[in-house]
Amino acid sequence: MTNSRRLKGKVIVLTGACGDIGRAIARTAAREGAKLVLNDILPVKEAKALLCGDGLSGRKVLYLQGDISRQETSERLIGKALEKFGSADICVGNAAVVEPAPFLEVDRQSWAKHLDVNLTGCFYIGQTAARAMAKAKASGKIIFISSWVQDVSWANLTAYCVAKSGLKMLAKCMALELGRYKITVNLVAPGFVDAGLSGKMFRKNPALRKDALKIVPLGRIMTAIQVAEAVFELCLPSADYMTGTTYLIDGGNSLFFREEDR
Ligand SMILES: NC(=O)c1ccc[n+]([C@@H]2O[C@H](COP(=O)([O-])OP(=O)(O)OC[C@H]3O[C@@H](n4cnc5c(N)ncnc54)[C@H](O)[C@@H]3O)[C@@H](O)[C@H]2O)c1
Repeated sequence: MTNSRRLKGKVIVLTGACGDIGRAIARTAAREGAKLVLNDILPVKEAKALLCGDGLSGRKVLYLQGDISRQETSERLIGKALEKFGSADICVGNAAVVEPAPFLEVDRQSWAKHLDVNLTGCFYIGQTAARAMAKAKASGKIIFISSWVQDVSWANLTAYCVAKSGLKMLAKCMALELGRYKITVNLVAPGFVDAGLSGKMFRKNPALRKDALKIVPLGRIMTAIQVAEAVFELCLPSADYMTGTTYLIDGGNSLFFREEDR
């Protein structure tokens, strides 16, 4: 049994909130008493059906549809957080896309989409949130959902790996400059999750799941809830002295690599 409501009074802005990991983060934050400004690219009706199905509704939850690769979406999200709830204390950049393709077949459109959503989307929401936090002279936390592939190359995921690697450097540069404002910037880097982007790939091709399992020293694929709990831990005061770093939670995937395991 946990102490409930450890995020009472906190306002969390979360992108990609309708995805599997996004909804798990939102449910965990709601359980802990946070007020939520949730964003996704999904139309309002579809998003609300998903979110309400997870109990994410009521006075403490606001949903705003918008493409996070456009700057105005971030401005609208942070603006609404301030207008409706009075602050934007924690910002979680979680929205992402993945379009696996062999390197020789990656086209400009798919390359640009990965960078626009997975990297530039976090730049926009991170910068807009940081400006509001600095202006309010309040401490703040910015968390980006990265991936273990921010540091490890993975076949058929070049654009995704490059975007996540860039995200890691974005977080480090932001952390360096924003420390003086008492704003921390960190990453959560999950391994293979049995949900969301890789969940979809595993369902389409069960052999991929088997292959993935071979390289996880802990011998199991992780859950969306485990990612959400890592994000929650970074939101707690016990993480206040952590900045510019990665909370790697990958079951040990990144510890070794053997070509024959591919
Ligand atoms: N699933 C995994 O195995 C895994 C592993 C490591 C990291 N991650 C990371 O976790 C995060 C969440 O991914 P997920 O697995 O829950 O995937 P998901 O597809 O379930 O969720 C991603 C969400 O982002 C939304 N989105 C896409 N483009 C958007 C845009 N332009 N603007 C706003 N929202 C947009 C989607 O509609 C979707 O709801 C991502 O950053 C992903 O890279 C996932």
